[in-house]
Order: sequence, then structure tokens, then C-alpha cells
Amino acid sequence: MKHTVQVEDKEFEILLENDQISKRTRLIGIQLNVDYENRCPIVIGVLNGSFLFMADLIKELTISCEVGFIRVSSYKGTSTSGEVKEAFGLPDTLHNRNVIIVEDIVDTGHTLKFILEKVYQQSPASIKVCSLLFKPAALLEPVKELEYVGFEIPNEFVVGYGLDYNGLGRNLTHIYRAID
Ligand code: IMP
Repeated sequence: MKHTVQVEDKEFEILLENDQISKRTRLIGIQLNVDYENRCPIVIGVLNGSFLFMADLIKELTISCEVGFIRVSSYKGTSTSGEVKEAFGLPDTLHNRNVIIVEDIVDTGHTLKFILEKVYQQSPASIKVCSLLFKPAALLEPVKELEYVGFEIPNEFVVGYGLDYNGLGRNLTHIYRAID
């Protein structure tokens, strides 16, 4: 196996092998099967980064569940925070449902806070977040809903297995961290 990759102008080294990711995903799946037995959750992946993790996670679920995806875009606006977010594709049928949001990575937590606000507006029965990666040192918004975490990682830029660097690298099988 190749231990380093070049993506655009940056060199990356392996952080998590696909095999480790698969094993952890299997365990999270088992936990979800127990926690959501007879609750028919709606599992919502946040595009683009979560697409590979979602696909692998969903295959571990043996419970009855619905699956969907949303996309959040950020752009510079005139608000005081300087950034405006918009959500696309969020189902409008979340009232009284058990919702599981699936993320690739929780970094500052801003994206998640925005999504959670939108979901809470529909008064779901419950909301939990499942993220493959979590950078605790980067977190600016505490997220009490973050119940399922694949791996806590250092505050470094990572790429692969769905995560991109300037739009590239999502197709890499393993997860790599930037070598500075
Ligand atoms: P947050 O709003 O700061 O938590 O950022 C969440 C989004 O930023 C994730 O869903 C990713 O798309 C992206 N992101 C954050 N950290 C990384 C990284 O290390 N590599 C690739 N994308 C990242």
C-alpha cells in the first residue's frame, strides 16, 4: 500500500486505513441497530463528504430505516457572521420522526449547528448526529446531539474516503492527513 499521496500542491500521509474505517463503521452500525430498534429512523447524509461513509454505514443497518441526503452551501454574505448558509433537499416530513444526521467530519461545528436548527423547526421525536471524524480541538459550537463518532482526530487537514482538498481526493480509499 502507498503511504503518501499528492493531491494538487499538497502531500498527504496515511491516517486511517480503509480496513480500520470498515471495522469502526460495523461497530457503529451494530450500536444503531440496538438504539433504533422498532423506531424506523430517517438517516440523512450531508453531501458531498459523507457519501462513502453513508453507503458503508447503511449497509450495516438491519433495522427498518429511511435514507436521504442534504446539501449545505456556504457563501459570503452581508450578515454579521460574514457567512450565509443554505440547505437543499431537507425532507419536510421530519415531525415526530427519529432523525440521524450523518456527517463526514465535525470541525468547527458551524455546519452542524445550522442543519440542527433547520431540523428542530419540524419538531422531530429525536435528533442524533453520527460523524465519521471529529476534531475536538477545532470545535467552536458545542453539539450535544453528537452521539456517534468514528474517530477523534487531531486538528489537521484530512482528505480521502469522501473528504476533499479543493474538490479532489474524495475517491481515495483511505484517509490521509496533510504533511506540513
Ligand atoms: P464545520 O462547519 O467547520 O464543522 O465544517 C464541516 C465541513 O467542513 C465538513 O463537512 C467538511 O466538508 C469540511 N471540512 C472540515 N474539516 C475538513 C478536513 O480536514 N478535510 C476536508 N474537509 C473538511
